[in-house]
Amino acid sequence: MKIAFFDTKPYDRPAFDSRSESSGIQFKYFEAKLNEDTVDLARGYDGVCVFVNDTVNANVIDRLADMGIRLLALRCAGFNNVDMKHAKGRLHVVRVPAYSPYAVAEHTMALLLTSIRRIHKAYLRSRDFNFSLNGLTGFDLHGKTVGVIGTGRIGRVFIDICRGFGMKVLAYDKYPTPGLDNGDTVRYVDTDELFANSDIISLHCPLTDETHHIIGAKALEKCKKGVVILNTSRGSLVDAEALLAGIKSRKVGAACLDVYEEEADLFFEDNSGHIMEDDILARLISMPNVLVTSHQAFLTEEALENIAETTVNNIRQFFAEGRCENELCYRRGDVEDCKDGKCF
Ligand code: NAI
Repeated sequence: MKIAFFDTKPYDRPAFDSRSESSGIQFKYFEAKLNEDTVDLARGYDGVCVFVNDTVNANVIDRLADMGIRLLALRCAGFNNVDMKHAKGRLHVVRVPAYSPYAVAEHTMALLLTSIRRIHKAYLRSRDFNFSLNGLTGFDLHGKTVGVIGTGRIGRVFIDICRGFGMKVLAYDKYPTPGLDNGDTVRYVDTDELFANSDIISLHCPLTDETHHIIGAKALEKCKKGVVILNTSRGSLVDAEALLAGIKSRKVGAACLDVYEEEADLFFEDNSGHIMEDDILARLISMPNVLVTSHQAFLTEEALENIAETTVNNIRQFFAEGRCENELCYRRGDVEDCKDGKCF
C-alpha cells in the first residue's frame, strides 16, 4: 500500500517510519498541506493521510475519488476539516479517536497554571536577573469553580486533574457521562449556570454547527468578571473578536488558547520573519494575560506513538477487510462511528 502523507513535520516521521516495513505500508511524506492546490500529489497512491489543518472539502474529495483513492486516514480525532456529508459514498474516512487524552488535558492545566501564576512573565524576568515580584500575584485554584464543556475522554481527564487541585466542577455535555455527576464536586448544569458560576471555563467538545462560537459575546456577558477561558479543543469554539473585546473590557481575566479560529495558515509554521496579517491574533498575543500555543496540546511522545499505531492499524484493516473499526460516517444528519463500513 502506498499512502500520500500530507502536512508532514519532522516529529511525525519516526513513529510512522518504524512501522512502515512491518505493516507493508509505504508512506510518501509531503510537507504541503492537502488542499485544492496540492491534491494532485495524491495521484497514484492508495490512500491519503492528513492532520487537523488539511482542507478536505467537497472539491478535494471529488478529485481524490476521481483518482480512485478510497481511503482518507485522519491522524487525529477531530474531523471538522472534512466535509463528511460530501465524503459519504465517495471516500472512507478513518480517524484516531483517542491518542492521549492525558497529553491534551495536562497541557490545558499547564496553560492555566502558567497563566494565573504568571510563569511566562517570571521566566522572562529571571533570565534578565529581574527578581522583582511586582505584578506577578496569582490566585489559588483550590476552591475555585471550573466549567468544563464536553466531558468526553479529554474533558474527563481534565476534570480529574482539577479535582486533584481541590476545584469544584460544573460540567456541560450534550450527552452527559453516566455516573460523573456526584451531586457535589462535579455537577452537570446547563450552559447558563455554567457561565454564571465558573471562575475558569475549559472547552473539550468537538467543533460542530451547534458548538461554533459557543464562547461568543452573549456567553461572555453571562460570565463572571475575570473569567479565565481555556481552549485546547478547536479554534472556532471561541469567537476570537468577542474574546478580544472581553479582554479589553476586563470582563475576561485571562485566556489560554492552543487553537485559534484562523490557525490553518499560521500554526505549525515558523512565521517569525513575516508580517502578521491577522490583527486579531496579533492583538491577542500582545496582551499580558493571553497565552497562545500553536496547537501543541497533543504533542507528547506517547501521543505520537499512539497516532502512528492506530493510523497504521486503520489502514491495514481497511485494505485487508474492507472495513475499519475507526471509520466515520455521515448519517441521520450527524457524524457517527461506523464500525462495519456498511453505511458507505
Ligand atoms: P470525545 O469525543 O471523547 O469527547 C467530546 C465530548 O463532547 C463528548 O462527551 C460529546 O458528547 C461532547 N459533545 C458533543 N457535542 C456537544 C455539544 N454540542 N455541546 C457540548 N458537548 C458536546 O473527544 P475528546 O477525545 O475528548 O476530544 C475533544 C476535542 O479535543 C476534540 O473534538 C478535538 O477538537 C480536541 N482535540 C484537541 C487536540 C489538541 O492538540 N489541541 C488534540 C486532540 C483533540
